[in-house]
Amino acid sequence: MKALILSGGHGTRLRPLTYSQQKQLIPVANKPVLFYAIEDVIEAGIRDIGIILGPNKEQVIEMVGSVEWDADIEFIYQGDPLGLAHAILVAEDFLGDESFVMYLGDNILRDGIVQHADKFGELNPDSLILLCEVEEPQRFGVADLDEEGRVKRLIEKPKIPPSNYALAGIYFFKPVIIEAAKNIKPSWRNELEITDAIQWLIDNGYRVEASIVEGWWKDTGKPEDILEANRLILDDIQPRNDGTVENSKIVGRVVVEPGAVVKNSMIKGPCIIGRDCVISNTYIGPYTSIGNSCEIVGTEIEDSVVMDGSKIVNAGRIVESLIGRGVRIRENDSKPKGHKLVIGDNSEIII
Ligand code: TTP
Repeated sequence: MKALILSGGHGTRLRPLTYSQQKQLIPVANKPVLFYAIEDVIEAGIRDIGIILGPNKEQVIEMVGSVEWDADIEFIYQGDPLGLAHAILVAEDFLGDESFVMYLGDNILRDGIVQHADKFGELNPDSLILLCEVEEPQRFGVADLDEEGRVKRLIEKPKIPPSNYALAGIYFFKPVIIEAAKNIKPSWRNELEITDAIQWLIDNGYRVEASIVEGWWKDTGKPEDILEANRLILDDIQPRNDGTVENSKIVGRVVVEPGAVVKNSMIKGPCIIGRDCVISNTYIGPYTSIGNSCEIVGTEIEDSVVMDGSKIVNAGRIVESLIGRGVRIRENDSKPKGHKLVIGDNSEIII
């Protein structure tokens, strides 16, 4: 079996971060979201991985190439993001006539895909899709199941949902899905929709089974989703101190990476402090991930993600924030007083 991991798309809902960064590379607990998908696929024993690339393709190639994976990885350029079924067509040569799992590179599953891959093998259907019970199915693609748990119909954001089962972004397919993708038309948003391709399978007598996700599943499409995924991952971290902690109080499960220096500060876990950070006279509260080479001085920060190389000095109290790479935040200690801002397009500031 092969894997097709999608790392294209524009990620408009994560602007301004996605002007300069492909969204699947945004870190959750200091690891790019995309790496969780790659690890899940390798854990399921898959060694042939195709990664779909979009606008910032060089970044993805460089980031994935910076790690030695126990798998062969091929990069496939999609160009414009014309839909999930379009990504399958672009990957036709890579996929050949093998079954494969398609994994959206901005999705995270707590328990991985091993049990679902096993179920795909046992039931041997034409497709097996992962479903997750959600509270507001109106916001998702929803599956209508028959008495035996087979998929009858898929409906995008239904006003009256036939079930609470949302489509998680992981799908197992036999190669017939390529024929399905060739037989559907673009939707109103001009995308070849994977839901239409799966519906084509059902309508043409192919068997589509479902597998229910038991642990949590998170689609990190929006800023609040990144913060929530960060909380969920940090909830399971094991404490470790590989840096230097001086005259500071560490409470709960905290990871301090090599080269990081924490002085005259209080750190309350779960949180992670990246490599070569300097944290001084600062409070870092629960559910915070500080990327590599950050400097945080005289500030309180909690429930936030700070990316590599940012510097925050005497900035007061920061909560529930998503802070990009190389950001500078400091106190305004000169006249005129007030907030002085240099902010990229589509940023959000709550003061
Ligand atoms: P979406 O989150 O639906 O799309 P997007 O990345 O364009 O985001 P936004 O709506 O904020 O603009 O895509 C789901 C996943 O699939 C995501 O990881 C991006 C990826 N993708 C592709 O690789 N190619 C595509 O053609 C599309 C539509 C998405």
